[in-house]
Amino acid sequence: MDDRFNTAAGWVLFAGIVGLGLAILSGKYFHADNPERPEQLGYVIEGVDTEEEESGPSRATLIASATAAQGEAVFAKCMACHTVEQGGANGVGPNLYGVMGAAKAAKSGFGYSSALSGMGGEWTWENMDAWLASPRGYVSGTSMNFAGLSKPEERAAVMIYLQSYGGVAERPEEAPAEETAEAETEADASDEAEAAAEQDAAAEVNEGGE
Ligand code: HEC
Repeated sequence: MDDRFNTAAGWVLFAGIVGLGLAILSGKYFHADNPERPEQLGYVIEGVDTEEEESGPSRATLIASATAAQGEAVFAKCMACHTVEQGGANGVGPNLYGVMGAAKAAKSGFGYSSALSGMGGEWTWENMDAWLASPRGYVSGTSMNFAGLSKPEERAAVMIYLQSYGGVAERPEEAPAEETAEAETEADASDEAEAAAEQDAAAEVNEGGE
C-alpha cells in the first residue's frame, strides 16, 4: 500500500517535471518570452469603408432613429438642384423620386456625367451614404457640384426622406446583433488557433525527443 502510494506519487511528480520541461522548451521554441510583433499591424486598403471603426453610433443605428421630417429639413440644401416628388422635373440635378435602391444614373431625360453613368450598380444605404458625404470623393468627375454632408446623422435623415419618396431599399439591420455575432466567431477562431498551436508544440517536442 505504501509502496504503491510512493510509486504513484513518484509518477505524478515525474509527470509534473516533464510537463514543466515541455512548457519551457516550447516557450523557447516559439519565443514566447520575446514576441516579434511586426511594426505595422495590418494595412489600410484605399476605398474600403472604415466608418465602423469611427466612434459614435453606426450607420444602421443612425438610420433606424432618423425621421423623414429631419430629412426634409436637410433636403433644403438639395432643393436648388433637385425635386423629389413623383414626376417632378429634372433641374440642375435629376429628379430623385424612388432613387433609394434604384440603379444609379437611371432617370430618363437627364444628362448624367459619364463618371456617374459609367459606375453601374444600385444605390444602397452604404454607397448613398458615401456619395452624400462627398460626391466628388465617391465619383471623381461627377457634375454634382455639392461639397457633401459631413454629419452622418444628416445623411441618415436625408436618406430616410428620399426613401419615403418611393424608395425600395430595406433599412439595414441594427448593429448590436451583428457585433455580438462577430465577437463570438472571433473568440471561437482564436480558441481554435490556440488549440492548433498547442498540438503543433506537442508534435515538435515529440519529434525532437526521438
Ligand atoms: C448644385 C446642384 C446640386 C446640389 C446642391 C445637390 N445635387 Fe445631387 N446631383 C446634382 C447633379 C448635377 C447630379 C448628377 C451628377 C452626375 O451626373 O455626375 C446629381 C445627382 C444626385 C444623385 C444621383 C441620382 C441618380 O439618379 O443616380 C443623388 C442621389 C443626389 N444627387 C442627391 C442629392 C442630395 C441628397 C443632395 C442634398 C444633400 C444633393 N444631391 C444636392 C446636383 C446637385
